[in-house]
Amino acid sequence: MPTTAADPANSAADPANGATGTNGANRTNPANGANAPIDVPRGLAGVVVTETALGDVRGREGFYHYRQYSAIELAENRGFEDVWHLMCHGSLPDAEQRAAFAAETAALRHLPADVRDALPAIARSCALTGPLAGLRTALSLLGAASGGRPLYDIDADRRRADALAACAAVPTLLTALHRLGQGLAPVEPRDDLSYAANYLYMMTGTEPEPERVRAIEQYLVSTVDHGFNASTFTARVIASTGADLAACLVGAVGALSGPLHGGAPSRALDTLDAIGTPDRVDPWIRERVLAGERIMGFGHPVYRTEDPRSRMLRGVAERFGGPLVEFAVHVERRVLEILAELKPGRELHTNVEFYAGVVMELCGVPRSMFTPTFAAARVVGWSANILEQAEDSKIIRPAARYAGPPPPQPVPAVR
Ligand SMILES: CC(C)(COP(=O)(O)OP(=O)(O)OC[C@H]1O[C@@H](n2cnc3c(N)ncnc32)[C@H](O)[C@@H]1OP(=O)(O)O)[C@@H](O)C(=O)NCCC(=O)NCCS
Repeated sequence: MPTTAADPANSAADPANGATGTNGANRTNPANGANAPIDVPRGLAGVVVTETALGDVRGREGFYHYRQYSAIELAENRGFEDVWHLMCHGSLPDAEQRAAFAAETAALRHLPADVRDALPAIARSCALTGPLAGLRTALSLLGAASGGRPLYDIDADRRRADALAACAAVPTLLTALHRLGQGLAPVEPRDDLSYAANYLYMMTGTEPEPERVRAIEQYLVSTVDHGFNASTFTARVIASTGADLAACLVGAVGALSGPLHGGAPSRALDTLDAIGTPDRVDPWIRERVLAGERIMGFGHPVYRTEDPRSRMLRGVAERFGGPLVEFAVHVERRVLEILAELKPGRELHTNVEFYAGVVMELCGVPRSMFTPTFAAARVVGWSANILEQAEDSKIIRPAARYAGPPPPQPVPAVR
């Protein structure tokens, strides 16, 4: 695991990632803490901590990729199962491999009885916190009920089998938790439907229209992976200890649930609702920007140009057309103009959340399922990262600079 200085030419070191400067804590040498400390930026921004063959994000170019392929090109031309195969097995499938992979993963959608029986209680406990919090508990149970063993103790084939089983079960868990939370019975998965079609089917109980399936599939493909974000890093830290796959995924879901990471695509849609009509766009946006508030769905910590996912999802939304899409396009244009005027030089562009919310709304996904749907796609990226990390025997164990009262001080006598 190399700890190289960030390369200014690639994304990890892109100042767009906040990698410039060394304003962070001193890091001591892991061997004994006595050697020269290493300065790293706060939040490890831009620090290269490993090598990966899975993908990368180039913030300045507005480009990201899965293995050697543009993620957007994959979303435009390939189905979810193909991209899952690419991340898990390293290559896009041919026709025969596609059929075999689809059959293999469809069979894994069904939950073990112990897990299925526990879901009503989990859904009740998560009535206020929602399906993503429920997923954390359900994934943990699934790992234990399936006899998942530490990554350290099993070979690569067994690890891959565990990863496929977990990824295939996540949509079943999420949609069951969602429906139970609404007082509805879970819908059993159908093996004859694609991943995306089955996801919408299990959520709504009716077979979805092909346009909706394709739209949600494009969203899911575009969300599978996105560089070394906090949840991916979390999954890899846990994998580096040799823990079981479910432990890694539960940690990743926990990281994703934080508002600074998983965000809330529903908030961008809430903004459209709050604005209401085209004549209210300018005063609404100006008032908030001048008050120092952020407009949801704009700005990004990495991209300093248009987020490629936003561009792709705008196209998906425009295929549907209708008043919501027209309104969103109008709001986007005005927000960009107003931000350019009031925040000159900040390079603020539309991010993935703005049109993700619109597309999910058009596909009939309820707002409480927006972030869980993100998780359903990202679990494939986390799993690929876990499998890659498991090949590296080095535990991830950085250091912290002690900043408390100077030790050693006498331990006070017990009174
Ligand atoms: C995503 C986000 C956290 C990135 O933050 P960042 O790169 O650290 O941006 P910065 O904090 O450096 O902001 C730079 C400037 O642009 C402003 N800005 C950033 N995003 C803004 C937004 N959405 N609306 C209005 N102003 C914004 C900041 O207030 C800051 O202004 P200042 O220089 O006058 O203080 C931020 O853009 C944001 O909060 N966006 C809204 C939430 C959102 O859509 N999240 C989903 C992300 S995928």
